[in-house]
Amino acid sequence: MSHDARCSNTLVFFVNGAKVEDADVDPECSLLVYLRTKLRLCGTKLGCGEGGCGACTVMLSKYNRDEDKVKHYSVNACLTPVASLHGMAVTTVEGIGSTKTGLHAVQERLAKAHGSQCGFCTPGIVMSMYTLLRNNPHPTMAQLDEYFTGNLCRCTGYRPILDGYRSLTTSAGPTTCGKANCCMLNGGGCGNMNGQVNGGTEELDGELDQPGHHLYQTNGMRPYDPSQEIIFPPELKVRNDLERESLEFKGPRVVFHRPATLEQLLHLKDLHPTAKIIGGNTEVGVEVQYKNQLYPVLINPINVAELTSIEETSTAMVFGAAVTLTALEEALRDQVTLKHESRTRVFAAIIEMLRWFAGKQIRNAAAIGGNVMTASPISDLNPLLMAAGAILTLRSKNGGERQVTLDHTFFTGYRRTIVLPQEVLININIPFTQQNEYFFGYKQARRREDDIAIVNAGCKVVFRPDSIEVLKLDLAFGGMAPTTVMALGTMKELVGRKWDASLLEDGTSQLACDLPLAFSAPGGMVEYRRALTLSFFFKFYLSVRGQLSQSLPQLVAPLTQDEQLVVTPHQYTEPASSQVFQRVSPEQSKTDPIGRPIVHTSAFKQVTGEAVYVDDIPPFANELYAAFVISSHANAKILGIDESEALKIEGVERFICARDLSEERNQRNDHEVFASKMVDCIGQIVGIVVAKDQPTAQRAARLVRIDYEDVDTPIITIQDAIEKKSWWNKWTMKTGDAEAALKVAVNTLEGETHISGQEHFYMETNAHIAIPKGEDGEMEIISTTQNPSDTQVMVAKALGVAYNKVVCRIKRLGGGFGGKETRSADVSVPLCVAASIIGRPIRMMLDRHEDMVITGGRHPFLCRWRVGFTDQGVITAADLHFYANCGNTIDLSIGVVHRSLYSTSNAYNWPNLSTTGYACKTNLPSNTAFRGFGAPQGMFCSEDIMEHVAQYLHLDPRVVRERNFYKTGDTTHFGQVIERCTLSRCWKDVLDQSDYSTLRANVQKFNSEHTYRKRGVSVVPVMFSIAFTLPWLNQAGALVLVYRDGSVLLSHGGTEMGQGLHTKMIQVASRTLDIPTELIHISETATDKVPNTSPTAASVSSDINGMAVLEACEKIKERLKPVIAKDPKAGWKSWVEEAYLQSISLSATGYYCTPGIKAYNFETHESAKFNYFSYGAAVSEVEVDCLTGDHSVLQTDIVMDVGDSLNPAIDVGQVEGAFMQGLGLFTLEELRYSPSGVLLTRGPGAYKIPGFQSIPQKLSVSLLRDAPNPRAVFSSKAVGEPPLFLAASVFFAIRNAVEAARKDHGLENIFRFDSPATAEHIRMACQDFLTEKIEPAVSKGEKPWSVTV
Ligand SMILES: Cc1cc2nc3c(=O)[nH]c(=O)nc-3n(C[C@H](O)[C@H](O)[C@H](O)COP(=O)(O)OP(=O)(O)OC[C@H]3O[C@@H](n4cnc5c(N)ncnc54)[C@H](O)[C@@H]3O)c2cc1C
Ligand code: FES
Ligand code: FES
Repeated sequence: MSHDARCSNTLVFFVNGAKVEDADVDPECSLLVYLRTKLRLCGTKLGCGEGGCGACTVMLSKYNRDEDKVKHYSVNACLTPVASLHGMAVTTVEGIGSTKTGLHAVQERLAKAHGSQCGFCTPGIVMSMYTLLRNNPHPTMAQLDEYFTGNLCRCTGYRPILDGYRSLTTSAGPTTCGKANCCMLNGGGCGNMNGQVNGGTEELDGELDQPGHHLYQTNGMRPYDPSQEIIFPPELKVRNDLERESLEFKGPRVVFHRPATLEQLLHLKDLHPTAKIIGGNTEVGVEVQYKNQLYPVLINPINVAELTSIEETSTAMVFGAAVTLTALEEALRDQVTLKHESRTRVFAAIIEMLRWFAGKQIRNAAAIGGNVMTASPISDLNPLLMAAGAILTLRSKNGGERQVTLDHTFFTGYRRTIVLPQEVLININIPFTQQNEYFFGYKQARRREDDIAIVNAGCKVVFRPDSIEVLKLDLAFGGMAPTTVMALGTMKELVGRKWDASLLEDGTSQLACDLPLAFSAPGGMVEYRRALTLSFFFKFYLSVRGQLSQSLPQLVAPLTQDEQLVVTPHQYTEPASSQVFQRVSPEQSKTDPIGRPIVHTSAFKQVTGEAVYVDDIPPFANELYAAFVISSHANAKILGIDESEALKIEGVERFICARDLSEERNQRNDHEVFASKMVDCIGQIVGIVVAKDQPTAQRAARLVRIDYEDVDTPIITIQDAIEKKSWWNKWTMKTGDAEAALKVAVNTLEGETHISGQEHFYMETNAHIAIPKGEDGEMEIISTTQNPSDTQVMVAKALGVAYNKVVCRIKRLGGGFGGKETRSADVSVPLCVAASIIGRPIRMMLDRHEDMVITGGRHPFLCRWRVGFTDQGVITAADLHFYANCGNTIDLSIGVVHRSLYSTSNAYNWPNLSTTGYACKTNLPSNTAFRGFGAPQGMFCSEDIMEHVAQYLHLDPRVVRERNFYKTGDTTHFGQVIERCTLSRCWKDVLDQSDYSTLRANVQKFNSEHTYRKRGVSVVPVMFSIAFTLPWLNQAGALVLVYRDGSVLLSHGGTEMGQGLHTKMIQVASRTLDIPTELIHISETATDKVPNTSPTAASVSSDINGMAVLEACEKIKERLKPVIAKDPKAGWKSWVEEAYLQSISLSATGYYCTPGIKAYNFETHESAKFNYFSYGAAVSEVEVDCLTGDHSVLQTDIVMDVGDSLNPAIDVGQVEGAFMQGLGLFTLEELRYSPSGVLLTRGPGAYKIPGFQSIPQKLSVSLLRDAPNPRAVFSSKAVGEPPLFLAASVFFAIRNAVEAARKDHGLENIFRFDSPATAEHIRMACQDFLTEKIEPAVSKGEKPWSVTV
């Protein structure tokens, strides 16, 4: 560090009000790691490590001396270097409230509004909301929405989070149920409050025939009181030396400098030309975490005045390079407010772009200079700055200062610029606009908020004064080349032209030539990206025309209403929702919790960060950390493994691979624990490195060298598998004679339907701790598995010990969704092997990329189908062939394919049906269970067939569906007679609730009036067979231990992963024992409490475990009978004590096996029998932007039959959460693989799950009333999986809108439209005058960037 200023080596900052001084800080350490490991504040979670999920959100507070104001920012702790926090204060979820000292309002409301399921996202959600309130105690819903752009939740579907927090916004107040006759609308309160709310007991007040509307009430919740907040540390206000002093922190590999002056900064950059200047570290942090980059010198310029200043000149606003995007936005907003609109057109475009730039946490940290200098081809600001003609000031110690224009010469290649290594970007000069100058920006991403662009653009035109003749045109595009580019040909061509239709025509043609893309261009989607450039230009053309029509009305006609809609940016709409459920009977005891919306038992611990997940468990003495070595070839022989370089790293303990295990112990079902001779997918586990900590283990793992010899071209896609006939097996299920019926059918159609796979994206990645017990080969494994017994068995086999030597424990999972049913053992078994060999506890939590690459997801399916039908749309024959991409091991694929066959016809009675499933073996990581287990894929195909038939017959698809419905007494294609079918009731209710006929008429009217925006509406049913298809899995056990103080420790075979299973089991025990829920505790799921458990899956966990709990509790109750009879008034605690004194056993096991379950016999075609069926239906209405493919869900109505709900809050939560996961499956989530099998979409940056803004603008969920189910505990029904498919209503509504758009262009033909309905698929299906200009991408021998698997 330079000489002239005080330089400190001690980091000083505050956490939750306590001062931290650290003279030994490692610059490589993130705030997240520091909090979790050094300060043991484990409430802040690691969900991704790349700023994409928000689980690590904390509040950063800084004192602004000039303004004498403390400012608060939500930031991602995972990307914030702890070294950068000198002089600042951090608040974590632990700092604002706890179950011991009292919950903060934001914690209480989230918990009580049922906004926390698995709880892993919860601390991050809490901290985003908390930061918002600290900055604005009375926020609007729109501001709340903005603060949540960087938070993801995979469980709840977001609605309860928004609802819970609505009460802290200006929109607080009574919410309506969405009905025209809602009692809230009619004044007064809602009389439909349910009995017990939020854990307390309420008076029961209504009649049974009135449904309940409120799953919680805000009465009695603590208000937000800003005066009670912890104060900003006074020391930080007093001491100005902290920000003045320069810093230098030296770690083992990296030095961190924080210069205090520009001179020091330039000096440092001169000394270390390769040093990274980090502003927000949002780019560099990701490169270090996931791209294996090491930057030995980091320079943080946030204290250099020249880089943080914002100044106004007569021609421009000048922003220091380290100005954050939040500060940029604030300053631009001020300008837009203060100045005439014509002066600030660039600023307005930047503000609009920043709405869609990353999440709030990233914008709070990231700097404008970082965005420019990253030189990313998909930077959001660079196209705008380039089109605006921004000027950059560069400076170096010896070269002095120079100014360059950010034009087409600035970027010299992929992530390269003309800036010299010693130079620093000082500031960015963004010019004001003139009256005759118009400016607009555009961005299209896969997900609207918090996503990087597919294509973006900045467009500026200058006209001759008082004319529509183009004087200058600047068109800059991102996503169309390795750098941001300008469409130079078009810019030149159109100068001198009039702004009219011929300019549009020629401009779009020229643009198509200016911006070509090779067939193999990185990022793929080449035709779509090219089409987007034309769509943007068209929008620009219209926007400018609209503006000209106002300034020069004599020359330019105003936009039509239709055109006006094209140029209107996406508007925020405050979401509305309702949840309707049946209230318990007035006769039900007030202490009986069944049927009441009780809060999730862990919710309060989750909102305070006290809930313990695997990686929150303090380290064991002598503990080590492990990292996998995985294959990088998809189909190859292993020629050799060389770990010597890895072992040289200090802190590496050992490398373990197949060499360390006998062949027999290395075998795990049809694959190996460690690949020994062959690898058959990228991401297969070859070995494990054990070291002192995670970074060391991961670094060493990358140094293990594996030599391969490729054996054959890998099979990646389903098409590849079909060509090579690569499948383990195929199975046919049939009824009637499909072939004969097809021959005589009045109408026939045939087609193909593809549905892509899906990543589970549970918020907590796989995490396990293996603890060798030191004697008799005993091993304890603390695990994130949904399948404790399978883990126990697999570990025992690999260790060569009896099952009774292995115990698997699970407290809770941060989400599972099927992804942790079997694939978790692929992770935990090698870990246990290593722990057993080394004899020390070993921990491993996969990082997000590892988890996505190794553990597989939902099976993609291709269906080839033929169908025969009458003129009325009644299906008379169907022959379907399903091909599932199973990956490299059979895993659960037989079950998944079978389930797709059982679900083939969804809710329809197809009398002659033959359905065949092929389990295709490919060279992808094995796919596995995922909510629905193959059923959504099967049902999707049947619904696609319905759409085709309806389109062919020109009928409303709703009518076609209705004409084919199953009803009570019908027999399914697998031979089960249907009892108590509630399908038509759900259907009728949902049509009424949504007012479907009016909706459809309105959609048709809208479509007749609009060309570029179209709406669609669809109604879809679901019928889901409930039971494991392997009969023996339908069993469960429970253990009830009653202690002398009356408290009850309950154990059962299911795992808690957010779905509320433990809460429901406590409710069952509470009713059966007739004691308050508070007396009952579930600590964990463990194989030494309940043996031989079935996986927590197939939606049956409440059914089977509930019955086992019931039986165990009844045994206890039975034993207590004589004691109770003797003193009926004594009460539970006395009875228990008396029973003890009388030597009556106070522990009991319970067991249940669902009777009569039978699998289909594929040899003899003998019928199958499930326990019962679940039904539901949904209506969705969407609007699509035909020019970009963007869509919004305007409304969704759901009616779901969950029997007599055990807990309506949990059941509604499951319905909404499943629906949103389905929404991701059908509209957004796309796993992209390279042709050689590399997963390209890793982490939340590249793989998008639905966010807060993806939810329907209006969401109404009703639980079907008066539908008790005699076949499950207390007349309830399964709920976990069935509602997921209802999101197909959104998909088919989109299809409906696309159909309308195509009709406008004379395309009446039946078209293929595969899932997911991404922006790309939508845009390219809405063919128009712009897409006509894009010639099809044709391979000239090169491979595409990605393939559809
Ligand atoms: C979750 C997530 C979402 C994102 N979303 C978007 C998005 O929607 N749109 C988008 O465009 N980007 C996005 N990004 C990328 C990134 O956030 C932006 O590019 C951001 O502006 C980078 O700023 P930073 O200060 O964090 O850069 P840093 O990581 O600190 O630095 C980035 C680079 O710039 C160089 N640099 C920084 N300042 C200077 C300087 N003064 N002189 C010379 N070189 C300098 C650094 O050396 C480094 O190479 C996203 C990133 C993440 C993690
Ligand atoms: S863990 Fe930091 S954003 Fe995901
Ligand atoms: S509760 Fe949000 S991810 Fe589980």
